[in-house]
Amino acid sequence: MPPTAAEDAAQAERPAAPFQTEDFRRARPQIVGPDEPESPFPIKLAGPVQKGFGRGGKDLGCPTANLPDDATEEMTNVAKTGVYYGYAQVLPPADKICEFKKEDLQVLPMVMSMGWNPFYDNSKLTAEIHIMHPFVRDFYGFEMRAIVLGYIRPELNYTSREALIDDIETDKQVALRCLERSRYHKYEKDPHFELEKVLN
Ligand SMILES: Cc1cc2nc3c(=O)[nH]c(=O)nc-3n(C[C@H](O)[C@H](O)[C@H](O)COP(=O)(O)O)c2cc1C
Repeated sequence: MPPTAAEDAAQAERPAAPFQTEDFRRARPQIVGPDEPESPFPIKLAGPVQKGFGRGGKDLGCPTANLPDDATEEMTNVAKTGVYYGYAQVLPPADKICEFKKEDLQVLPMVMSMGWNPFYDNSKLTAEIHIMHPFVRDFYGFEMRAIVLGYIRPELNYTSREALIDDIETDKQVALRCLERSRYHKYEKDPHFELEKVLN
């Protein structure tokens, strides 16, 4: 069993991530994992969205929402670092809902990166969620709920920003294909989410 992210974080030295190789890039499968979520999934997360360094949106064209450490313990305690897929929903407070479009409040597909972002040499373990949707405004400080349903790939280091962007694009396509499977898709309607927000 590989160490969990929390076990890695307890070590004095941050674990070294391997570099992405051309062979890895070429051999990436279009769909990953079993036909239905297997233990430890589904993992349900919820918490207020925190500001990261902001490089995801600026450098990579892929904005991410960070969850606080205590909100991701359920994930870091049982899962290894890497890239995951699932669903997420943003739940703004009642007085801010009018600043969003109805589609922004739906349960939406997401990809999650949990690790040390070796490309940026971070010194702290983070869990960042990219929701695959063009939001009309930011949602820092607002509640986000997520259900993680499966693992896509290990966290890697990169020799260029373009190679990281390319892998993140592939992650998004893989996640969408994985979520089309009926036993994953049904989590879009899980009571962990506030489904009446989608209907009203
Ligand atoms: C789907 C996805 C996969 C990612 N994979 C990696 C990775 O393999 N290696 C890495 O260093 N960072 C990876 N990142 C993390 C980016 O480096 C991260 O989003 C970036 O550090 C921006 O963080 P910031 O907005 O807090 O600055 C990934 C991010 C996403 C959304």
